[in-house]
Amino acid sequence: LDIRDDADYVYMCDNNTIFGTKFKNLPNTKGKILVNDASSSFLSEPMDVTKYGIIFAGAQKNVGPAGTVIVIIREDLITKDLEKYVPIMLRYDIHAENGSMYNTPPTYGIYLCGKVFKWLLNLGGLEAIEKINIEKANLLYDYIDQSKMFYGTVDKASRSLMNVCFKSTSEALDELFIKEAKQEGFDNLKGYRTVGGMRASIYNAMPMEGIKALVAFMARFEVKYGENHA
Ligand SMILES: Cc1ncc(COP(=O)(O)O)c(C=O)c1O
Repeated sequence: LDIRDDADYVYMCDNNTIFGTKFKNLPNTKGKILVNDASSSFLSEPMDVTKYGIIFAGAQKNVGPAGTVIVIIREDLITKDLEKYVPIMLRYDIHAENGSMYNTPPTYGIYLCGKVFKWLLNLGGLEAIEKINIEKANLLYDYIDQSKMFYGTVDKASRSLMNVCFKSTSEALDELFIKEAKQEGFDNLKGYRTVGGMRASIYNAMPMEGIKALVAFMARFEVKYGENHA
């Protein structure tokens, strides 16, 4: 990475929810603090927190309901040496000193996160969920890779385990696919508005059965509208 000498930190998003890309190795930040928006990867696999200065994540993908946010910050980065204009809610020192309860915390959201933590621990922790997530993503990518109608839009080395982005042979067919998928109960397969195509977001809560059902539907769709269709 081309990193300026006067940079204070390097900001990354280890899993890009929109494009379905993922950093498989962390960038060399040349000693600069690494800040990671881990909203769509947090708790989907083990993460070496010692590699980062700050990790933050919205809970809404793998952890709990929207409105709850998790921040992991290196203690030496919690500082009082801040510009006057930094509002209280953005001051990590205030949150840390007050046990994350300076304001009224979103109690119900946190309660639900606790349930998810217990579910994950019972499953065998992050190593176990990672294994499941790899199996789920592989099933879908393997189908896409052998398909004559669908293709993955991301370089194989950078594919996300959480957001599987793909397209078919035409935009019209993409639209038909999304429409027929919805009729069969597969919701939200439309890709992000700037990307188009399809995106299957297969977070921790998506069971293997869901992936199998989607692959079976894609196969039926391909037979129905594919080249070999009479
Ligand atoms: C990686 C990532 N960062 C940020 C956001 C935005 O989160 P919010 O809508 O809670 O601001 C999302 C999507 O929700 C995301 O996937």
